[in-house]
Amino acid sequence: MSKKGRVTTFDLREKKRKGEKSTMLTAYDYSQAKVVDEAGVDMILVGDSLGMVMLGYESTLAVTLEEMIHHGKAVVKGSKSAMVVMDLPFLTYQVNRDDALRNAGRVIQETGAQAVKLEGGIEVIEAVKGIVEAGVPVMGHLGLTPQSVGQLGGYKVQGKDKGAARKMIEDAKALEEAGAFAIVLECVPWELAAFITEQLSIPIIGIGAGKQCDGQVLVFHDVMGLFDEFRPKFVKQYLNLREEMVKGIKDYVGEVKTGVFPAEEHIFNLGMNLESLLEE
Ligand code: KIV
Repeated sequence: MSKKGRVTTFDLREKKRKGEKSTMLTAYDYSQAKVVDEAGVDMILVGDSLGMVMLGYESTLAVTLEEMIHHGKAVVKGSKSAMVVMDLPFLTYQVNRDDALRNAGRVIQETGAQAVKLEGGIEVIEAVKGIVEAGVPVMGHLGLTPQSVGQLGGYKVQGKDKGAARKMIEDAKALEEAGAFAIVLECVPWELAAFITEQLSIPIIGIGAGKQCDGQVLVFHDVMGLFDEFRPKFVKQYLNLREEMVKGIKDYVGEVKTGVFPAEEHIFNLGMNLESLLEE
């Protein structure tokens, strides 16, 4: 990590060269970003997973550029040291190169984030080149790409047969050649992830891709135990904040009902007899 300012793409590459692991976690608002940043995570991902964990959508497909920008601004404000990477949502980079550059540019200009992430390999390579040539760092995303969940037939492990493994290796190399600074590999057998990590000189950040990757990424709500609708096999839950929060709120409700809250220390004293006001 740099002594001053935010983590840079150069810092991440250096970490890979030295064999040091990089860390990434999602965050979607000011308070989450402050916590994640203070804990020393290298990169904060404003993932389009916000559609599911923050907005209650069924998938990431409905997330709009405006929603991403709204959350991204708050995350940038809440963080000081981490690199902030913004997901480009569905259909903001697949149509054509100009469109991709315009949308990536908006995200960077309006949020102040340092990089964008997009899903796919050779099929989005022109978009990657266009954005990189404009000077914006791009992170790739291969394997289980949630924006293509319909085509992939669900949230399944990817790259399991020879053809799919070969395509993923080719896609990863194409992204590196196009100038991507890192790639997320999601839900990929660990041997394939390890091979890609070894073949490429840019950092490979895994999620459900084993420990040989150059770093790991997880979703904030999964790590904190805040999302209880489903938990993928690759998630490790470090806290059970949902349980803690429900307990805390039940205590609050109980104390309001019984008059325990607010107590003496929570109130303001006027120190005046109000009856006397009426008599004046
Ligand atoms: O949107 C997201 O949170 C992601 C991670 C799962 C890598 O893309």
